[in-house]
Amino acid sequence: MTKLYTDDAELYDIAFDWDVEEEVDWLSEQLGRPKSVLEPGCGSGRMLDSFARRGIEAVGIDLSAQMLALAHARLRNRAEVSLADMTDFDLGRTFEGAISPINTLLHLSPEQLARHLDCMVRHLEPGACYLVQVGLIEAASCDPYAGSDWEASRGDTKVHAHWEDEEVDFERGVSRQRSRIEVLAGPRAGEVLEEMHDMTLWTPQTWAGAIEASPFREIATYDGGKKGGRPRVDATATGGLLWHQLQPV
Ligand SMILES: C[S@@+](CC[C@H](N)C(=O)[O-])C[C@H]1O[C@@H](n2cnc3c(N)ncnc32)[C@H](O)[C@@H]1O
Repeated sequence: MTKLYTDDAELYDIAFDWDVEEEVDWLSEQLGRPKSVLEPGCGSGRMLDSFARRGIEAVGIDLSAQMLALAHARLRNRAEVSLADMTDFDLGRTFEGAISPINTLLHLSPEQLARHLDCMVRHLEPGACYLVQVGLIEAASCDPYAGSDWEASRGDTKVHAHWEDEEVDFERGVSRQRSRIEVLAGPRAGEVLEEMHDMTLWTPQTWAGAIEASPFREIATYDGGKKGGRPRVDATATGGLLWHQLQPV
């Protein structure tokens, strides 16, 4: 696992700690106002925190002990988190909804995604949905230099974050992404954390095939990258911030 999720999880937590309130309102609505939500790969718990503050029982799992330590500090028992691999876990209970934001599932190979979805279906109540944010790209419309820059701060610490596609290989189904977090101010000022992440590249076709082979079906797709709401789009749409609403078959 990369340093961004382990030794430098604190920098991740600062860089990705933007306001998620409106997004969690939307997720909660799409999930049918659930009483309980599971987030696999919950990281430092920013989404769980927001669900918990709405009175929703929020439970997360993550493979990084450092992320979970940050989640414990943030949540202070408002939500439950534990160490587990999202491709092989059994919490012995079910939930009324589940979420996976910001392309977390791209960390899984197609085989791992299949195992993950098999685990997830056992953790959902009948009719409950799993909303996953997974970007889809196609060779014809692919911008090989797609990237984003933003700044974030907490206390004295200020960081500049940069994330970009370094290499997109449609044949191997892999997208190599570069992340760079530079600490601009605070006790770690001057430090730079730069890493490569090999992520699975999904096209609308390969994604549809993976869902077809899983115990889920996709009942709706929304574009989280569009301004002014998350309009419903066709399942063949491409984009970096698509939300897929999955329901057990
Ligand atoms: C992009 S971060 C997202 C964190 C959180 N969902 C959020 O929105 O802030 C991806 C998270 O997935 C976790 N992760 C990656 N592979 C995992 C696996 N196989 N099982 C559980 N967690 C995993 C990482 O440790 C990391 O915390």
